[in-house]
Amino acid sequence: MAHYPVMKEQVLNWLNLRDGGIYVDATCGYGGHSRYLLEADKNIVLYGLDKDADAVKSASRELAGFKNFKAVHSGYENLDSVLKGEGIENVDGILMDLGFSTNQIRAGERGFSFQTEGPLDMRYDRREGLTAGEIINTWSRNDLVWIFENCGEIKKAGKFVDRIVERRRKKRFETTVELADFIKQLCRHKTKIHPATKFFMALRIAANNETEVIKEGLTKAAGALKKKGRLVVISFHSIEDRIVKRFFRDNAELEALTKKPLTADKKELAENPESRSAKLRACKKV
Ligand SMILES: C[S@@+](CC[C@H](N)C(=O)[O-])C[C@H]1O[C@@H](n2cnc3c(N)ncnc32)[C@H](O)[C@@H]1O
Repeated sequence: MAHYPVMKEQVLNWLNLRDGGIYVDATCGYGGHSRYLLEADKNIVLYGLDKDADAVKSASRELAGFKNFKAVHSGYENLDSVLKGEGIENVDGILMDLGFSTNQIRAGERGFSFQTEGPLDMRYDRREGLTAGEIINTWSRNDLVWIFENCGEIKKAGKFVDRIVERRRKKRFETTVELADFIKQLCRHKTKIHPATKFFMALRIAANNETEVIKEGLTKAAGALKKKGRLVVISFHSIEDRIVKRFFRDNAELEALTKKPLTADKKELAENPESRSAKLRACKKV
C-alpha cells in the first residue's frame, strides 16, 4: 500500500500552482503528493527529491508517465546544487513533508519501527551517517542523555541511559525489537503510547542529524524561491514544528501565510488516523 499524502488538498491550495511554474517536492517519498500535484496541473514542472534511494526509484517508476516530473536522489539541504545542476535559478513553490514515510516504517530492514524486527539503522540515506545502532552502542552517557531529552523530550533521561549503558557493556543492542523491549521493561508506568516511541524518535533525529538538516533545508528552500514563491512545510512533532515556526518568523524575506499551523480535517482523520499529528505551515517570499 502506498504512503497516504497528508493534507494534500491544503498543500495544493497553499502552493497555489501556476501554469508553467517550476515546483519542488523536496521529500517526494514514494510520490504521493507529487502525483496529486501533477494531476492537479498538467502544465507544471516538478522535481522530486528524496534521500532514500528506494523511494526515488519507486517515485521514478510510479510517475514515469509524467514527462514533466524528475526524481532526484538528494537531500533537501542540497537543493541549491540540485537546482544548479538542472540549470534552474529559482522556483515557484516548494513542499517539505518532514520525517519518514509509511513505506519506510513498514520495511523492517530500515530499522525505523520498534514493532517490526530489523537492524538498528534508521538512516534515510544509507550511504552516509551513523546508524541508530552505532549511536546507542557507542555514544557517551552524556550524549545519549542529551539526545533523549532534547530530541525525544524525555524527562530525566539519565536513569534510562544508565541502564542502557550497563546493558550494552554486557551485550550490544542489535535489533529494533530488542531495544524496544528493553526500554519497555524500564518503564513501569502504563502509557498510551509505547514507551519506546520517544526513544526511537530521538535516535532517528540523531542518526540523520535531522534538526540541523531541516534548518539547512529551510534556508536553501527560502533562497531558491522566486518573489511571491510559496513554501509549504508539514511536520509531525513539536520539535520540527518549532523549527519551522521560528524560521518563518525570523526570516525577513518570508511572510507567514498561516498564523497558526493547520491540521487535517475530520474526513482525513477518519481515513488516515496517522495524519492526526500533522501540522502544516505555509509562507511566501516577499
Ligand atoms: C513523510 S515522507 C514524504 C511522503 C511523500 N510526501 C508522499 O506523499 O509520498 C518523508 C520523506 O522525506 C525523506 N527525507 C527525510 N529527510 C530528507 C532530506 N534531508 N532530504 C530529502 N528527503 C528527506 C524521507 O526519506 C521520506 O521519504
